[in-house]
Amino acid sequence: MVKRKGQRPFVVATFAMTADGKVTTRTLAPVDFTSREDKLHLFRQRALADAVLIGHTSLKRDNVRIGLPAELQDARTKRGQSRCPLRVIISNKGRIDHRLKIFQSDISPIIIFSTKRMPPKYRKALESKATLHLSDAEHVNLPIMLATLSNKYNVRRLACEGGPTLFRALLERRLIDQLNLTLAPYMFGGAKAPTLTGLSKEFLPASVHCALTNMHTIGDECFLTYRIKHRRGRLN
Ligand SMILES: NC(=O)c1ccc[n+]([C@@H]2O[C@H](COP(=O)([O-])OP(=O)(O)OC[C@H]3O[C@@H](n4cnc5c(N)ncnc54)[C@H](OP(=O)(O)O)[C@@H]3O)[C@@H](O)[C@H]2O)c1
Repeated sequence: MVKRKGQRPFVVATFAMTADGKVTTRTLAPVDFTSREDKLHLFRQRALADAVLIGHTSLKRDNVRIGLPAELQDARTKRGQSRCPLRVIISNKGRIDHRLKIFQSDISPIIIFSTKRMPPKYRKALESKATLHLSDAEHVNLPIMLATLSNKYNVRRLACEGGPTLFRALLERRLIDQLNLTLAPYMFGGAKAPTLTGLSKEFLPASVHCALTNMHTIGDECFLTYRIKHRRGRLN
């Protein structure tokens, strides 16, 4: 089958946010502010995807394996999918520690998108644990990365699990299609605690319009699903 050039997966981001818009604290330390239900929600979203994408800082800070509970793995098998989605890491600098937990688990292949800025020492250590896509440019080109995932790895649905820096970069380029947002019953405050779109003081290039397609509450948490409309508009 000949694939359309520039084809990309449907990109779904899943985040949990406090009532005052924070996704983590000032120190970026792992912070557990959501319920078991929300964790299950994240797993269910992950289980729907062909691949999961994570930014280097979130991977490093949270030290996650990006696995799935056995019942969700079984459900994937019944749907004709692999037991777990591909795991995709993005980093410009490429200084990814091969001792992170993700590399100790072989539940699914790991793909790294980075640049030739990755020091040889890191490259050597990671080569046996992941497939490396290293570009000549200073920064990873997001549309090319998505096209590669689509064309080379047959990824139709990509679950973006943050963090906010990566989410914002994708959003700015109109590469997010859906946002699953859990509103958690907390407030953190603090200008230095990242919001959903990170810490940047800059406006987005254009306001992003969302359509609410689903909403339900469990306990004190609210689970929202937005379709991103990407209509052009002025901020303020
Ligand atoms: N509440 C939630 O739902 C949620 C979800 C996810 C994460 N978090 C939290 O968010 C915090 C981390 O967020 P963050 O915004 O600091 O970091 P992040 O988005 O996870 O990662 C940023 C790093 O990823 C790489 N990266 C991001 N965008 C890139 C791009 N366009 N091209 C190439 N590389 C790119 C770069 O790595 P290099 O520096 O290696 O070049 C960048 O420094 C953690 O505290 C985590 O717990 C919260």
